[in-house]
Amino acid sequence: MAMWSAPGKIILFGEHAVVFGEPALALAIDLRVSSGLQVSDRYTVNGHTMRRKYHAYISAALDEAWEGPPLKMNTDSNIPSGSGLGSSAAVTVSSVAAMLAERNRFDHGDVATKSFNVERRVQGRASPIDTSTSTHGHGVLVSPEKGDRHIWTISSGPQDWHAHHCEVRGLEFVVGYTGIHASTGPLVDSVRSLVESDGEAKRMIRRIGEISMEGVEAVRNADKVRIGSLMDENHRLLCALGVGHPVLDEFVEACKGRCYGSKLTGAGGGGSMIALTDDADGVCRAVSSAGGTPIVVKVGCDGVRLDRDRRVHGRPRKR
Ligand code: PMV
Repeated sequence: MAMWSAPGKIILFGEHAVVFGEPALALAIDLRVSSGLQVSDRYTVNGHTMRRKYHAYISAALDEAWEGPPLKMNTDSNIPSGSGLGSSAAVTVSSVAAMLAERNRFDHGDVATKSFNVERRVQGRASPIDTSTSTHGHGVLVSPEKGDRHIWTISSGPQDWHAHHCEVRGLEFVVGYTGIHASTGPLVDSVRSLVESDGEAKRMIRRIGEISMEGVEAVRNADKVRIGSLMDENHRLLCALGVGHPVLDEFVEACKGRCYGSKLTGAGGGGSMIALTDDADGVCRAVSSAGGTPIVVKVGCDGVRLDRDRRVHGRPRKR
């Protein structure tokens, strides 16, 4: 069975603000989901009857990208689910890619658009940052203005998100996974309510957008000191918007002095934090002693790709 694989991601700058059209930057990581399919006489996922309730993303991917007979789908993942590392986007992107390829319609822009539609169907309000990063790989800047290295534009109602390639090199991150699951939708809604009623919150959202643009420059220059201080500022703003968590703050505190900067990544309210460091072992120990699960990730990895019949093997590098 031909397997298509797609990477998870970390959001380096701009989560939540991106939902309001502000810029955000995400980096593809070296944890992946692979998906393959075969025409069959009934719909199954990994040998189980496909049910919308349990296989929400694959079912919605079928609605978006498949026309034809029932399918036997196989998926495999080494991204911890609920960790904020983009496992649902990677499942979606790899499945959509497999379906379009089976119909000889594979195209990166189409995979990104259809995968975004799938996430919106399943999650409600969402930005295309996760699905575009999982499709393209490397680093992806999503912004309201079209600039250099534009790759595609994703539209939803009045909103246009322009995705751009961002080169990433020489950066190593440690993810600190809290094990606390928080749903993205309610967190996005809570930020929206705050922003609608509070001018200060609106200003914070705009400042996060500026941080993303300053961050892109710093990433292009591999300026770790600058990236780190922007991460710290972004974290403080996200906490002020109400999406932090005391456990995330404990991890951030524990990593101080061993990293350039750290912040929560993704929706917050639990999930994971990231630290940019040259001392991955030291940061892993700090996260572990604060009670978290450390995962070392490489960034700037390939986007969706055909892996022939190779599955994703191995587990995340935990220490
Ligand atoms: O839950 P995650 O890790 O996929 O992050 C969501 C990022 C948000 O900006 C909060 C929502 C979005 O769709 O952009």
